[in-house]
Amino acid sequence: MHVHRRTHFGISESQVTEEHIWRARRLFLQKSALSGAALLGSSLLSRHVLSKPSPPESYAGLDFKKLAAKDKVTEFKAITTYNNFYEFGTGKDDPAKYAHTLKTTPWTIEVSGACHKPGTFDVRTLAPKKQWEERIYRLRCVEGWSMVIPWLGIPLAPLLKRFEPTGNAKFVQFETLYRPNEMPGQKRAVLDWPYVEGLRIDEAMNPLSFLALGLYGKTLPNQNGAPLRLVVPWKYGFKSIKSIVRISFAEKMPITSWVKASPKEYGFYSNVNPQVPHRRWSQKRERRIGEFRKHETLMFNGYGDYVADLYQGMDLKKYF
Ligand code: MTE
Repeated sequence: MHVHRRTHFGISESQVTEEHIWRARRLFLQKSALSGAALLGSSLLSRHVLSKPSPPESYAGLDFKKLAAKDKVTEFKAITTYNNFYEFGTGKDDPAKYAHTLKTTPWTIEVSGACHKPGTFDVRTLAPKKQWEERIYRLRCVEGWSMVIPWLGIPLAPLLKRFEPTGNAKFVQFETLYRPNEMPGQKRAVLDWPYVEGLRIDEAMNPLSFLALGLYGKTLPNQNGAPLRLVVPWKYGFKSIKSIVRISFAEKMPITSWVKASPKEYGFYSNVNPQVPHRRWSQKRERRIGEFRKHETLMFNGYGDYVADLYQGMDLKKYF
């Protein structure tokens, strides 16, 4: 868990310099936003963040960057050298050391199952880079650490809608590439490969659900799930499946990799919940990577205003 001992695999000087540029740009934008908001009195943003949240359909105009605005953004070096990507080994520094072997061009994603327009597409046709939006989200790992990551990408719902899911599509299943020659960790039976994750369709369609294609203003590094990974900020990090090649609309709840590996410890929902301990440890607190002070873990990772409605009437101790 100690980032300080890590060597800085895969990080060139130019990448570090670019982090400074990114931070300077962020500061500039924050200052202009502040003065803009002061001038206008009440901006769209403050209306959305400060007032009672509205249903997801009316999130248009919500500034997703501000959802973690008070948090210090984790350094690029930590985000790209302290990873979980078991396809490249179970050590935190294995992905940064070995993920360069993954070939991400060409990259085809197949969409199938309960939808009217199944098909395959190349990831590069998804959205031109200038349409990618930035979202700063907290990522809380089930192991008890967290980061604040400036993702770049596209919202998940509009992409799914392009394939016209039918009324039978109750869940969405995601699969990672299976290519043991490029992903040496797949030669060991640590998990039942390929890595599989899933969401209920309304969770997938929630405006917070996001597909990341980059971070810190750059294309996604392989160790973070290039070329395309899911980001579901109110759930434990393992729901955020990396290097996706298959998406399918399903009638039944998918059996995900971690549920298959240890059903007593990992549930399908895996919403961040400080009230429900992992079988072997508490989930009440977390260590922010790069900081020593521990943080209280927040219900739904702090995104409850936007997602709690999805679970109304459900016993979250049972459906963990
Ligand atoms: N996706 C795949 N395919 N394989 C993995 O091992 N690990 C998950 C998730 N997505 C994993 C994965 C876990 S446990 C976490 S905490 C996050 O990725 C970590 O994302 P990061 O390395 O970008 O911080």
